[in-house]
Amino acid sequence: MFEVEPVPTLRWVDDHLRLLDQRVLPQTVEFLEIRDIDSLAEAIRTLAVRGAPAIGLAAAYGAVIAAITTKNRPDQRHRIDQLLDVLAGTRPTAVNLFHCIEIQRQVLDGVEDPPDIVPELLSTAHRLFEEDLNASRAMGRFGSDLLEPGSIVLTHCNAGGLATSGLGTALAVIYDGWERGRVARVYADETRPLLQGARLTSWELARAGIPVQVLPDSAAASLFAAGEVDAVVVGSDRIAANGDVANKIGTYPLALAADRHGVPFYVAAPLSTFDADTSTGADILIEQRGRGELECYGERLLMPLEAGFWNPAFDVTPADLVTAIICEIGVVRQPTRRSISQLTGNV
Ligand code: MRU
Repeated sequence: MFEVEPVPTLRWVDDHLRLLDQRVLPQTVEFLEIRDIDSLAEAIRTLAVRGAPAIGLAAAYGAVIAAITTKNRPDQRHRIDQLLDVLAGTRPTAVNLFHCIEIQRQVLDGVEDPPDIVPELLSTAHRLFEEDLNASRAMGRFGSDLLEPGSIVLTHCNAGGLATSGLGTALAVIYDGWERGRVARVYADETRPLLQGARLTSWELARAGIPVQVLPDSAAASLFAAGEVDAVVVGSDRIAANGDVANKIGTYPLALAADRHGVPFYVAAPLSTFDADTSTGADILIEQRGRGELECYGERLLMPLEAGFWNPAFDVTPADLVTAIICEIGVVRQPTRRSISQLTGNV
């Protein structure tokens, strides 16, 4: 299982965090060496590191950077809290970010006036990283069990190694399915406006030797109509207690089209993406992004200055359009508040 080599999305190297710069993929494979919180916050905001689990892990390592950069300050704990607040303010939708920051705050709470808190924070960040890799492996197997042999799978955005510790959620299902003959080939929505599907998912799948075709988001419904999709598999940034799923903008239309054409719609996400404190999708804060992502194509201006814009980064797919949610401890079919809490233990 999982012969594919994990993507080096983020790694702790000696005394700092190394991030694969996803803004310049696939043309260039370049790394950012992160040694301070402002650079990390900028990397998260500008999507140099992106994807719900990956930004959570980046923030977990960010706590280590916060401790290193405040060493010997009398108000160290207070300053680390402020730096963690900066990270928490970078992107609002993916709950993994807040989950990992909270875990590191608990580590800080647990050590009284420590001479050096870096080792504790670092071992926690490493543990979260390993848990995420293991979760990917488990999701891959649970998810690929749901696919018919030789399936053609449609995915959206990038829910792969680049969005996690290195293997992914939706793409973990595809990797595992490919190795077991359950996936024949993949369609990747290009994912306007930042093109995570075209730039990142196709790069990742090509790297693993899995046949992938990129399509404009607007062509997806026609792909279903042509009978070319056997299953949709996507990731998530936050799953509300009732099973509503927030994911990259453009996911909800896929769920509608899948429903219309009788195609199963699967969501793969680790337990760290489930948010028992958010009752329904309507309570999920959807990140709104700037005009710059829409108005230019390279150097070329696409919109007149008079035109306004609306650029939500995520949408919410209602639970009743979700065939099943796949996580590292099992599968919730036709998710409801009750079935989710039974699986996750938040009953
Ligand atoms: O804006 P992005 O690129 O961070 O959005 C990422 C997604 O929407 C992913 O599908 C989601 O985070 C799941 S990643 C395993």
